[in-house]
Amino acid sequence: MITRFTKLVFTLFLLTVSAYSQKNDSFNVKKQLEYCAEQASKTLKVIPEDGTSPRAVPNGSAAWKFVGYKDWTSGFWPGELWYLYQATGDKKWKKEADKFSRFLTPLSVSKAGDHDLGFQIFNSFGNGYRLTKSPQYKDIVLKTADTLATLFNPKVETIQSWPHNKMGGHNTIIDNMMNLELLFWASKNGVNKKLYDIAVKHAETTMANHFRPDYSAYHVLIYDYKTGKKIKGRTAQGYSDDSMWARGQAWAIYGFTMVYRETKDTKFLDFAHKVTRVYLDRLTTEDLVPYWDFNAPGIPNEPRDASAAAIVSSALLELSSYTNDKNLKSEYLAKSKKMIESLSYHYQSHDVNSAFLLHSTGHKPAGSEIDCSINYADYYYLEALLRLQKMK
Ligand code: GLY
Repeated sequence: MITRFTKLVFTLFLLTVSAYSQKNDSFNVKKQLEYCAEQASKTLKVIPEDGTSPRAVPNGSAAWKFVGYKDWTSGFWPGELWYLYQATGDKKWKKEADKFSRFLTPLSVSKAGDHDLGFQIFNSFGNGYRLTKSPQYKDIVLKTADTLATLFNPKVETIQSWPHNKMGGHNTIIDNMMNLELLFWASKNGVNKKLYDIAVKHAETTMANHFRPDYSAYHVLIYDYKTGKKIKGRTAQGYSDDSMWARGQAWAIYGFTMVYRETKDTKFLDFAHKVTRVYLDRLTTEDLVPYWDFNAPGIPNEPRDASAAAIVSSALLELSSYTNDKNLKSEYLAKSKKMIESLSYHYQSHDVNSAFLLHSTGHKPAGSEIDCSINYADYYYLEALLRLQKMK
């Protein structure tokens, strides 16, 4: 028989365990957010007044490379500034975020150059609208969603990612999953409901064709323009056509998690778990920051990709909230936290340069942006910190 005394002892035990684990959960999110704000303040001081924004700091340098609004990464810097406004409530960040977002306005009224419009406009004006409800921002986001939709090929049922680089057919890259968020948002907040169907079709077609039997993603899928049939899976930024490029898999994890959030269709949730499983099971690094490609031939002497870890850490926090399986939830949470802690303790730039993180790899086969700082690593790292703060 359980006596009241036994119950009391047991309750005291639980309270002690809980207090102990809270005391030892010493990772200080606020401190990391303060670090990001300090670094971004330093960056603000060196940006030229010519409408460009910081993209990357090469390895061995302390100087940012700046890019114009057409660059695929142009939305990440204003996105970081919006996140800093969210984190601090300080109007200084709002003013800068607005300024750097506005440089991208022409994208909303130009012909679609490629699928990156989502990264560019949703991270800048999309975050801006979420935080300010400015009707002007909303108008820009809605117009851009319509522009992105012009790249949809109804025969293939995906968006063409790189119209300028045919690669032997209609190409769709796994990164394109991320840009569906813009279409989902616009279908809910505007009048063009077809955007929802386009996003769902793109996700379904990608799910059917873009993965190997173990659920690792090809970087690029080539389809026949006219018949819509799959021709071949290839790579552009990975080690080989058959390798698992770390950031590509990260985009898949984040992308299918987001598509489940937007559709509540469990087939996308099941798929998000599958593409996550192969990534986590094949992750061999102790700090959970992957090599740039899981099949890179020189492992362990290959560069890491902190950007992939940042993207996955943010996505895992969200995915953990969609499962009732206690073991899976605690695995996702523990691994996400470990990734965020690794990035915070061992990958921060501090005095090396004014980015947040070191050790990302952009395009190894092209010999560009290897083991350097890149704005999208910083963006998703900051997003992961904010998500973690919210959960705590
Ligand atoms: N193509 C976008 C990326 O480098 O992930």
